[in-house]
Amino acid sequence: MDMSRQLRDFNAVAARWDQEPRRVQLASAVSEAIIRNAGPSQAMRVLDFGAGTGLVTLALAPLVQQMVAADSSQGMLEQLTAKLADAGITNVLPFLLDHAGPVSLPGPFDLIVSSMTMHHIADPGTLFGLFHAAMRSGGQLCIADLESEDGSFHDDPTGIYHNGFSVAEMEDYFTKTGFVNVRTIQVTSVKKGREGTAREYPVNLTLGTAQFSWD
Ligand SMILES: C[S@@+](CC[C@H](N)C(=O)[O-])C[C@H]1O[C@@H](n2cnc3c(N)ncnc32)[C@H](O)[C@@H]1O
Repeated sequence: MDMSRQLRDFNAVAARWDQEPRRVQLASAVSEAIIRNAGPSQAMRVLDFGAGTGLVTLALAPLVQQMVAADSSQGMLEQLTAKLADAGITNVLPFLLDHAGPVSLPGPFDLIVSSMTMHHIADPGTLFGLFHAAMRSGGQLCIADLESEDGSFHDDPTGIYHNGFSVAEMEDYFTKTGFVNVRTIQVTSVKKGREGTAREYPVNLTLGTAQFSWD
């Protein structure tokens, strides 16, 4: 059976998600790169797609007007909701998406970010089209994900549709759906022990600006 086509159970790992320092460090590197390169500001409505427990969401929330934290895992969003209550944060809206159904995004957004989620998406091209449609004019899209790898990053291939993305492949999704000024930077690399040696998996952040026919 092709395990990539099975649903990965993020609910089962939600409570332990933040206990893995590698994940926290990766989200922090991605958040810093977004802040440096996309300039989030107090006037912005921002979507974090595949927000999970909110590791990136919570880094951006103090800098913007509102964050929508969208995810298809109720368990991951419950972890985020508990963190929001503990910290008294009121400008983050957890938003549950139906994994199987059509995606409806509560735009418009000035900035859309997504970290380590795109490799779980069967058809990124369609999703990029929805991102573009949910943007305000001049809105920016920031996607962080693994550089293409040999499939060894995940111990369990369930729900993995892409073994990372080459820079050309990722930038193609941007340009084909109407984003301009597209560029990619490497933000960090994740070290994992593999067959007795340490392997490094680079993580890239690709950025682009939404362009509309009337711009
Ligand atoms: C690897 S985790 C990353 C979470 C978070 N961005 C972070 O950096 O910690 C991927 C997240 O994407 C979510 N996800 C997977 N497929 C999705 C889909 N089709 N729609 C929305 N969220 C999805 C999962 O529930 C999970 O929370």
